[in-house]
Amino acid sequence: MLIEIKDLTKNYVMGEIEVPALKGINLKIARNEYVAIMGPSGSGKSTLMNILGCLDTPTTGNYLFNRVDVSTLDDDQLSEMRNRQIGFIFQNFNLLPRMNALHNVELPLMYAGVPKHERTERALKSLGRVGLAERIHHKPTELSGGQKQRVAIARALVSNPGILLADEPTGALDSKTGDEIMALFDELYNEGNTIIVITHEREIAEYSHRIIYIKDGLIFSDEPTERGKQLKR
Ligand SMILES: Nc1ncnc2c1ncn2[C@@H]1O[C@H](COP(=O)(O)OP(=O)(O)OP(=O)(O)O)[C@@H](O)[C@H]1O
Ligand SMILES: [Mg+2]
Repeated sequence: MLIEIKDLTKNYVMGEIEVPALKGINLKIARNEYVAIMGPSGSGKSTLMNILGCLDTPTTGNYLFNRVDVSTLDDDQLSEMRNRQIGFIFQNFNLLPRMNALHNVELPLMYAGVPKHERTERALKSLGRVGLAERIHHKPTELSGGQKQRVAIARALVSNPGILLADEPTGALDSKTGDEIMALFDELYNEGNTIIVITHEREIAEYSHRIIYIKDGLIFSDEPTERGKQLKR
């Protein structure tokens, strides 16, 4: 099992007040699953994604990632695991505005200490993979929304993480461009990646094979989609 979560809670502490964001989550996700997480605003989706991606730690409960108990890792080990194994994609792309597409995609490799020539080679390959070979010298302001998201996906893919975590990846895109991004996710799934997408749009979630619906910090339902059912037949 790639992801195994047991009785997980997360409270945010704000001075005297504790905000319970997750109230007891149990969840298993296997390698090469394609999962959507849905739920109302404030239900705990991003909180869960941050924990899944080792950007944050639970208050109580266990998180086993690749059978490793994440709570036993120190900050360096956590960031190492994150950099190697998890690719993040966000609603607002999170690209560095002064850098062109190529340099944005090279960045994670720079942090990982990969030498320049190899960095460039891998970034070019990754940008080619998402169909942006012709736009490598463009800065974010010189790209469309869909192209910016492709750069962000190329950046997420460049370290060959195997797991993609996307928080509202189509939230800032029109529906046609959103569908193009989801078609790209389909391809990445077919290549063996594990994909976890947070979305509030049912049509986007239907691309996945399983929808986990979160409500008020708890899993309200966990059901296969039509595509997921076809897969099992
Ligand atoms: N850093 C934080 N400090 C304090 N409270 C927080 C923090 N982040 C989130 N919360 C609270 O935790 C709860 C869950 O927030 P979360 O961001 O996970 O919701 P969400 O499901 O992603 O919502 P949305 O659909 O609006 O993105 C909310 O009540 C929110 O106010
Ligand atoms: Mg959110």
